Amino acid sequence: MSTSRHMIALLKSHLEGDDQEFLSVAMQAAAHEARLGHGAIAQQLRDLIDEAKRRSAAVQNRPGQLVVLEPRGDLANVLSVQTPSIRLADMALPDVLAERLQRVLLEQRQQQRLREHGLQPRRKLLFIGPPGSGKTMTASALSGELHTPLFTIMLEGLITKFMGETAAKLRLVFEAIRQTRGVYLFDEFDALGAHRNQSNDVGEIRRVLNSFLQLLEKDTSDSLIVAATNHPEMLDRALFRRFDDVIEYHLPDAPLAEEILRRKLALFETGDLDWPRLVGETEGLSHAELARASEEASKDAVLAGSTRITSEALSSALRERKAASR
Ligand SMILES: Nc1ncnc2c1ncn2[C@@H]1O[C@H](COP(=O)(O)OP(=O)(O)O)[C@@H](O)[C@H]1O
Ligand SMILES: [Mg+2]
Repeated sequence: MSTSRHMIALLKSHLEGDDQEFLSVAMQAAAHEARLGHGAIAQQLRDLIDEAKRRSAAVQNRPGQLVVLEPRGDLANVLSVQTPSIRLADMALPDVLAERLQRVLLEQRQQQRLREHGLQPRRKLLFIGPPGSGKTMTASALSGELHTPLFTIMLEGLITKFMGETAAKLRLVFEAIRQTRGVYLFDEFDALGAHRNQSNDVGEIRRVLNSFLQLLEKDTSDSLIVAATNHPEMLDRALFRRFDDVIEYHLPDAPLAEEILRRKLALFETGDLDWPRLVGETEGLSHAELARASEEASKDAVLAGSTRITSEALSSALRERKAASR
């Protein structure tokens, strides 16, 4: 290979974020220089390659430090990365749900021990439930608890008109899941199957969903894979079996709704509030909507130059949310 060819191959592997390929091309370039009798240049290249290998090994082995590389190349518009700092304790969850999530965390944290005994930690989760019930937030909290990055798969970037391309990108995503440990969130995951009705190539979309399921089944990585959906009815029941855990979210019941409102209003005076009446007005509202209503009532108080929340303000904010969610 000529020097320019090496250069092209180097840049390509750099753009694709393929470090292994990058170093292998650099090695070839060093060998090429040696063959031309350019001993000093060849040695300089080998020294630099050794240095690069030492550094990347150091980065991978550094304990407790999170090194997150922005997805590059074909994955740039498919994966987005975050390092959330929220915890499960920041969420108001019914006890059963909190316990199931704690179980996932325990198995994740002890995965080495489990694997030594030939056991697999829970790592493929399906979250189902109404919008605003905390599914996306839970994925962030799991990532925060485990100190691993949260990679969100952007379905708009993944699903293209060309099904062959979509399937190829999906394979790349699972390649990343294998290579970089993290929480991988397929949010609003039903979109993978949702185009089924409007599309003229139903068969192709089925194939994409099927290839997702096959990739999911085959995956034996250390990453945590979370799929979340507001529309479980759009998914085949057969699909549920591919997950280690199916976790159902519900709208908050009255006691949880009260807890959510109280937590959200903790910095204000709420002594005057008619709780029994207000709690009766929370029915059918999601966690997100309750949070929003508390914020509206808080803003009313602040703008009125007060720290006191009134029942009227909160009640009207709740009714407004109810009207908006219809
Ligand atoms: N269980 C919860 N605890 C605390 N806040 C929540 C909870 N569920 C929802 N929220 C609030 O509602 C917002 C939207 O929730 P989200 O996780 O996006 O819902 P989903 O993904 O189920 O539609 C969150 O950013 C958060 O402010
Ligand atoms: Mg969501």
